[in-house]
Amino acid sequence: MDNEPVVLLSKREIDKMRQAGGLAAELLDYLAPMVKPGVSTLELNDAAERWTQERGAKSAPLGYHGFPKSICTSVNEVVCHGIPNAKQILQDGDIINIDVTPVVDGYHGDTSRTYFVGEPSPVAKKLVEVTEECLMRGIAAVKPGGRVGDIGAAIQDYAESQGFSVVRDFVGHGVSRIFHTAPQIPHYGIQGRGKKFRAGMVFTIEPMINEGTWEVEVLDDGWTAVTKDRKLSAQFEHTIAVTEDGVEILTLHSELVNA
Ligand code: MF3
Ligand code: CO
Ligand code: CO
Repeated sequence: MDNEPVVLLSKREIDKMRQAGGLAAELLDYLAPMVKPGVSTLELNDAAERWTQERGAKSAPLGYHGFPKSICTSVNEVVCHGIPNAKQILQDGDIINIDVTPVVDGYHGDTSRTYFVGEPSPVAKKLVEVTEECLMRGIAAVKPGGRVGDIGAAIQDYAESQGFSVVRDFVGHGVSRIFHTAPQIPHYGIQGRGKKFRAGMVFTIEPMINEGTWEVEVLDDGWTAVTKDRKLSAQFEHTIAVTEDGVEILTLHSELVNA
């Protein structure tokens, strides 16, 4: 997907992306209070699907390259692409990433957060806090004149300074009417390398940060990516637009935008 040209979106298209992104953020807010011990990941999926349909939107993951559900639910050692399942019941102390992508008027709002189920262990709490800070540092690295490598360098420096590792096998991506397109956005790398930022570029930043090794493997279901050492992994994701003077986060709850 990285040989494709990077398409710059018009102001009108970025407005559309902001609408989809705002709905995605609202969906994550809606799901938050349901994340409790005893709930199954399928219940979260079904609530998300219903909520999305009620708003006239579609769930991009459903049927995407054969993905069987509407959201990804990635618990503990699952790095990403966890499949919601009725038999998977959340337990006190788990961490769960919920990744949603509603499609509004053809445009994709792609965002995820990692939630605590009950009380986290100290290491889980630190991993989740560091991962969210990695996302925010990655976003802050998007500046006029900069390059894509600045994002990965900022994330990797911070994650590794805290004793954690950065997943290499999954990257951020251009997103618009297409779910996954150029450019690729690695969450590791070297400052000053890679494509130059241009106003109108729209892509995700979605660091997956591991407690132990950065290496992952994919389970026999063909989707679920887990840490090779089965230690914890956390992730946060926003869709952002490069602007003339910096960066705009498109996956914020609309009532909070410009607040
Ligand atoms: N939302 C994921 C991302 O951030 C992609 C999920 S693809 C699926 O890119 F098929 F697993 F749903
Ligand atoms: Co994404
Ligand atoms: Co996502």
